[in-house]
This record gives sequence, structure tokens and C-alpha cells, in this order.
Amino acid sequence: MTQVQLSPDNQVLTLTTASGSHRFHGVWLRHNALDANTRDPGNGQRLITLADLPDNCALATAEASDSSVTVTFANDNNTVSFPTEWLLTNAYDRARDGTPGHLPEHAETWGEDLNKDVPTGHYPDLASNADAKRAWLAAIRRYGFAKVTGLPTESGALFKVVDLFGYVRETNYGRHFEVRTEVNPTNLAFTGLGLQAHTDNPYRDPVPTLQILSCLENSAEGGDNMVVDGFAAAHKLREINPEGFALLHSYSARFEYAGEAGVKLTSRRPVIGLTPEGTMQNIRFNARSAAAPVDVPFDKMPAYYAAMRQLSDIIDDPASEVRFKLAPGEAFIVDNTRVLHARKGYSGAGKRWLQGCYADKDGLLSTLAALEAAT
Ligand code: FE2
Repeated sequence: MTQVQLSPDNQVLTLTTASGSHRFHGVWLRHNALDANTRDPGNGQRLITLADLPDNCALATAEASDSSVTVTFANDNNTVSFPTEWLLTNAYDRARDGTPGHLPEHAETWGEDLNKDVPTGHYPDLASNADAKRAWLAAIRRYGFAKVTGLPTESGALFKVVDLFGYVRETNYGRHFEVRTEVNPTNLAFTGLGLQAHTDNPYRDPVPTLQILSCLENSAEGGDNMVVDGFAAAHKLREINPEGFALLHSYSARFEYAGEAGVKLTSRRPVIGLTPEGTMQNIRFNARSAAAPVDVPFDKMPAYYAAMRQLSDIIDDPASEVRFKLAPGEAFIVDNTRVLHARKGYSGAGKRWLQGCYADKDGLLSTLAALEAAT
């Protein structure tokens, strides 16, 4: 049974349902009203500004039915209704996990255990079946990476992956970049060297939030790809060195790239990014583009470096990694705000030709949310 009650000063509504009680302020209810005078019925956008809120949003009356709550504001007798479900979904008077580094909704950490069940979508299914696409996008939201099989082995096939959910993010490396051995490379990625697990382009702000790498040829010795869950690595650091974890999210690191003429990219962000509420938000980790840190106080620098080395060891630990060798026609996508990628060195006979590009995670999450809303 749904019940509502007003506080003695009429500033707060308490909603009680079978699932518990939640309080809502009058000013919050007024600002977030769902009626046609407050929100455009067509596009849902808010029609009022904060300046339109009365100084006093006291509630005159409140009533509850099985599925909605109706309130009348004292200042103008304006009456608005809220679906009870909407109020419960948006309730802010609730217990919350304030642990620094707690996971965002839908995310699940992993390590080598995920080798036995690498999230994978088959391109012809993803392109033709909304359920398959939804499941694949949800896996990326959960684990921060997924493979794709069944792509055509032709140049530009990686764009077909991006077309499933959004748009390419172009950078100074182009709309896409070729990953194969180059003479006089502008970036160590374009050599046969092994690369420690890293997030891409931490020197950009914002970073490209998704990376797609597709394989056209891979007959060279070595060159396996590896992915590491940065959130899991940060959690391990928090476990063994909570003070070090705090240093890495409390002080900015710096990153830079100036490997080609006319480019001098720099950023100043922490290695472990948390929201103000402490939710794990992003990881920036890249040995090649780390610049000298200058924001860590003098007396904390040794402990900061010790924590960075511990995090690096955790990232290099085979127990952290999922490993695969892409075959022609296969690709993988990583959430570049969370999952680090690496490759083993390659050399000798055979060829390795991958193509990479960036895209935006907000577009992927939007496509996923729209698919979920449609079911
Ligand atoms: Fe990379």
C-alpha cells in the first residue's frame, strides 16, 4: 500500500511503499515535475529554468493512488502527478556505498577467469538481430571489452563495428590508423615491439572512450593481444595499499604526446579517476606517454611512485589478463576509460596488419539504453 505524508513545515514529502520510505523535498519535486508546463511532452526536455522556481516550494497537499503521487504546491496551487515507479527509480533518500572506488552500476570486475568465456558477438548476428546486439553492448558495459567475429577481411571493416552503435572519433592519427611495422614510426604502436598494457591516448582530454582494433592479417609469430581490467587492478591496489590507492586518485598525473610535427598533446588527470561520490570512473595508464608528475606533494612522491609500481605489477600479472590472438575477420573493442590493452612482441616471417579507430562510449551506452527501453 502506497502512502504519502507531509512534514510539519510542508517542505518534505515522505513516500512509503512496500519497499520502504523515501523523502523528497518540495523544491526537488517542483524542479523535476513531469507535467507539460515543466517538460516538453514531445522531447522530454525541461521548459523551466532554476529562476522559474518559487522561493518557497512548500507543498499544500499530497495524495497517493496505487500507481501515482499527486502534489499541489502552496504558492500557486499548481498540481502535478508523478508515477510512483518514477519516484522510486529517482529516489535520493537512500543508503549508498561511499567506499572510494566502488563500481559503477552494471560493471563487474574480472581477471584471467574470463579467458574461458570471452564476451564475443558474431558480426552478421549483431548487424541483423537486435537481441544479439543488445547482449553484446551489455557485455561491453559490464566487462569493458568484447570481441567480434565474422567481419569481412577488408580494409575499413572496423567501421562496420562502430556503425552498430555510433560514430568514429577522429584524431591526429586519422579516421583510422594502421597498426603494422613502419619505418620511422610516429608511435611505438607502429613497430613490432611488445607493448605493456595501457589505455590509449591518456594525453587527450577527454580521452577517446572506445577503441576498436580489427585484424586483416596475423600470420606473424607472436603479436597476441591482451586486455586487463583497470577497475580490477585498482581494486587489488586498494586491497594491498589503501593509502597508495588514495594517492593515485587524489593527485593528477600528467601525460604528453608530441611524436609528430604540429602535435603537442598534454593532459593533467589522475591515474585512477573517481566521481565526487567515490564511484570508479576511469583509469589512465600508459608507460609510453606518462609525463613528469608535478602535482604530488614533495613528501608524498616516494609513496606515489611505490603505488604506481604496485599498480604496474598488478597490471603485468598474468592473473589479470585475458589473452587472444585475433584472426583475420576478427576485432575487439575496449572501453578505453577502464580496460587496458597490450600486445606481445612480434617478428619474423608472416605479416601482422591491424586497423584501429576510436569511438565514443556515450553513443554506445545510448544505443544500448534505447534497445533496452524498446524491450
Ligand atoms: Fe594502444
